[in-house]
Amino acid sequence: MTCFSSLCIKKTASRPKHAPEVDDEVSGISNISMYTYKELQMATASFSADNKVGEGGFGSVYKGVLKDGRLAALKVLSAESRQGLREFLTEIKVIASVEHDNLVKLYGCCAEGKHRILVYGYLEKNSLAQTLLGDGHSGIQFSWFTRRKICIGIAQGLAFLHEEVKPHIVHRDIKASNILLDNNLTPKISDFGLAKLLPPNLTHISTRVAGTAGYLAPEYAIRGQLTRKADIYSFGVLLLEIVSGRPNTNRRLPLNEQYLLERVWECHEHGKLETMVDASLNGDYDVEEACRYFKIGLLCTQDVPKLRPSMSVVVKMLKHETNVNDKISRPGLLSEFMGLKNERDEKPKRDKNQEDKPMLKNSFYTESSGSGKVDDSSSSFRLVTSHATMTFNSIYDRSN
Ligand SMILES: Nc1ncnc2c1ncn2[C@@H]1O[C@H](COP(=O)(O)OP(=O)(O)O)[C@@H](O)[C@H]1O
Ligand SMILES: [Mg+2]
Repeated sequence: MTCFSSLCIKKTASRPKHAPEVDDEVSGISNISMYTYKELQMATASFSADNKVGEGGFGSVYKGVLKDGRLAALKVLSAESRQGLREFLTEIKVIASVEHDNLVKLYGCCAEGKHRILVYGYLEKNSLAQTLLGDGHSGIQFSWFTRRKICIGIAQGLAFLHEEVKPHIVHRDIKASNILLDNNLTPKISDFGLAKLLPPNLTHISTRVAGTAGYLAPEYAIRGQLTRKADIYSFGVLLLEIVSGRPNTNRRLPLNEQYLLERVWECHEHGKLETMVDASLNGDYDVEEACRYFKIGLLCTQDVPKLRPSMSVVVKMLKHETNVNDKISRPGLLSEFMGLKNERDEKPKRDKNQEDKPMLKNSFYTESSGSGKVDDSSSSFRLVTSHATMTFNSIYDRSN
C-alpha cells in the first residue's frame, strides 16, 4: 500500500475545470488519473446502451476504451449515491492507495460538475454471479482446481484489506457479483463504493447497513454492528456458493432447501457434506478438500462473531497450512430473524446460549418485487427498525 502524502497526481490530457477549493482537494489525490467528462463520453460512445454492462446499487456500469487504448469499466454513480465532492474524493484517495493482485484496479475518476464516475480496469470474464452462478452460458468450466484458486485469491484479497491496509478496510459488500475474473480466472474483489475506513479505535458503525441480504451477518443486519467479522461471514457464504455452484438463496427449490447455508449446516450435522458439492464437477474433485472448504465456510458464518476465524487464518486453512477446527456450532441464520421463513410456519431453532439475543420486534422487511427472477442470490429487501437508537436501511439491489 502506498502512503497518500508521497503520491503525485497523474494528469490526463486536459484537466477538468473545478472551483479553487476543489482544485485543492484534487491536488491531494494521487496515483490516479482525473478524467474529463468529455473524455469518458468519447470512451463509451456517449454512454450508449450498447456499452452498458450492468447496473448495481450505485448506478450503471459501462464498458469503454480509454484514449491510451486500455479497456475500462466506468461506474457512473447515480444521483442518490452521488456524494459531495469532498466525500467522493476522500473515498477515491482510499481506493487508489490500495493495490493487490486480488483487488480490482482503479484507474481514475471524473468529478466534473455533478458527474461522479469511477474508472476501473475492465475484467473480461465478468463476475462469479454471472459465470459460476449464472445461467450456465458463460462457457467457463470451473474445475475444482480453478475454484480452489478463486477461493484462495478472494481470501487473500480480503485478508489484505482487513489486516495489511492501515487503518483496515471493511468491504461491507462481499458477494458473487463483486468478484470479477481476469483472463486467467484470477479473482479480483471489486466495488469499494461502500468500503470505508474504520478508525482504529472504533469497532463498529451502526448508522447504515449496506450489503446484500443473503450475505449479511446477522449482527450487522440486525444491530448495525459492522466489523471485519461481517465481511468474514459474507466470505463464508460465498465460499459455500463456490463449492456448491449454488446461489445462497434459490426460490425454485422446495422451501426447506432454499437457503444454502442452512442446507450445508444440515448436511454437516448428518455427516453428508459431500452431497452438497457441485454436481457439474462430475466427481472430478478432492472430496476431502471440498468438505474442508464447506467446514471453513461454516466456521466463517458462526453466529457468534468471535468464533469466526480471521481472514489470514482462513487463507492458511484453505491452503492446508493449518487445521480446520472440527468444533463447529450452528451458523447465524438471518432468515430466522427476518421472517423469511414465515411461510414455513416454523419457530426459529436457537441455541440456548443465544436466547438473550435481541429480536427485532418492531421491524419489518419487504422484498423487492423488481427483479421478477426466481433464482435470486441477492434478494432485495429493506429493513427498518423502530428501536430508538437504530434506524438503518439496507440498500438494494440488483436482479442479475
Ligand atoms: N471492472 C469491471 N469489469 C467488468 N465488468 C464489471 C466491472 N465492474 C462491474 N462490472 C459489471 O457491472 C455489473 C454491475 O456492477 P455494480 O454496479 O458494482 O453492481 P453489483 O456489484 O451489485 O452487480 C457487475 O455485476 C459486473 O457484471
Ligand atoms: Mg459491484
